[in-house]
Amino acid sequence: MPRFWPFRRSSRAAGDAGAPSGAHRRLFGREYAAGVPYALPSDLSEMNRLDFQHYMLRQAFKGIYAAPIGTPATILDVGAGTGRWAKEMAALFPQARIVALDIKVPAESEQSQSGAASTGQGPSAYTFVRGNILEGLPFPDATFDFVHQRLLFFAIPSDRWQFVVNELMRVTRPGGWVEIVEGHYGYEPMGQAAQRIADAMLPAMLRRGIDPRHSANLAQFLQAAGLRDVQTRTVKVPVGDWGGHLGHLALTDVMTFSQAARPLLLAQGMSEPDFARLVETMREECERLRYTWPFYIAYGQRA
Ligand SMILES: C[S@@+](CC[C@H](N)C(=O)[O-])C[C@H]1O[C@@H](n2cnc3c(N)ncnc32)[C@H](O)[C@@H]1O
Repeated sequence: MPRFWPFRRSSRAAGDAGAPSGAHRRLFGREYAAGVPYALPSDLSEMNRLDFQHYMLRQAFKGIYAAPIGTPATILDVGAGTGRWAKEMAALFPQARIVALDIKVPAESEQSQSGAASTGQGPSAYTFVRGNILEGLPFPDATFDFVHQRLLFFAIPSDRWQFVVNELMRVTRPGGWVEIVEGHYGYEPMGQAAQRIADAMLPAMLRRGIDPRHSANLAQFLQAAGLRDVQTRTVKVPVGDWGGHLGHLALTDVMTFSQAARPLLLAQGMSEPDFARLVETMREECERLRYTWPFYIAYGQRA
C-alpha cells in the first residue's frame, strides 16, 4: 500500500470532511452535502446527471484529459463526483494508482467509515477518499503525477480559489501535471430566458461566497500557483438538436441541470410556474439561437 492509501489527514482536514457520509440538508425536495457552500444537490438524480455529463464531455473534448501526461503512475481527481472519470483513467492506465476525492461518498463506497475506500468493483487500483478541498488535501507534498479537477465552479468560494489551486500543485510531483476543467457561466449567445435564470442564480451563489464566473480565470490561478507551460483551450459545445448527437446530449444535460438549479431559484423567490416557463423558453432558445456552452480546459506542469 502506498502511504496515502489509508491516508493521513491533518487534524484541520479531518474536521468538515469527517462528517458522516449520510450528513445532508434538504431544499425544495433535493438533497445537499452538509458543511460546504456547494450550490448544487448531491442526490441520486444529480449523480445520474454527472455520469451523463461525463459522457457528453468525453465526446465534446474527444478524450478525458488534455495535458501531455505520458504514463502517470499516480493520479488524483478532486471533486470526483461519481468517480466515473477516475475509473476511466484506471482503465486507460491500468498500472496507475488512482484516487478520487469528494465531500460526498458515492453510494458504492459507503461501506467504509474511515473515509478511505476501495470500490470493491472495477479497477483494483481505484480508491475513493472523502475530503473537503476547502480545508486542504489530505496527502503529502509531491504525491501524484497527474492531478485533475473538473466542474467545481459552483463549489469554490472566490477567496478560496487560489488556495485550492495551490493545493493541487502542492500534491503534484515535480514534472507532473495539474489540469482543471470548468464551464462558462452561461451560454453563447445568451437568450433572454437563460439570462434571467443566470441573473437569478448569481445572487444565491454570491451569498455563499461563490462567483462561478471565476471559471474563466483558470490560467491565472495556475500561473499564480507557480505552474509552468500553462496551456488553455476553450471548447464550445453545441446545445440543442441543431448540434447533432452532441448537441442533443448537451441539451439533455442543460435541461437536467436546470432542475438541479431549481431549488436555488425558488429560494430566490421565483415561482414554480415562472421557473417552468423560463426553462421551456430556454429549450426553444437553444434551438432558435443556437446556444453553445463554452468549457475551459487549462493545465500546467510543476517545475
Ligand atoms: C459538478 S460536480 C463535478 C463532479 C466531477 N468532477 C465531474 O466532472 O463529473 C462537483 C463535485 O464537487 C464536489 N464538491 C463540492 N464541494 C466540495 C468540497 N468542498 N470538497 C470536495 N468536493 C466537493 C461535489 O460533491 C460534486 O461531486
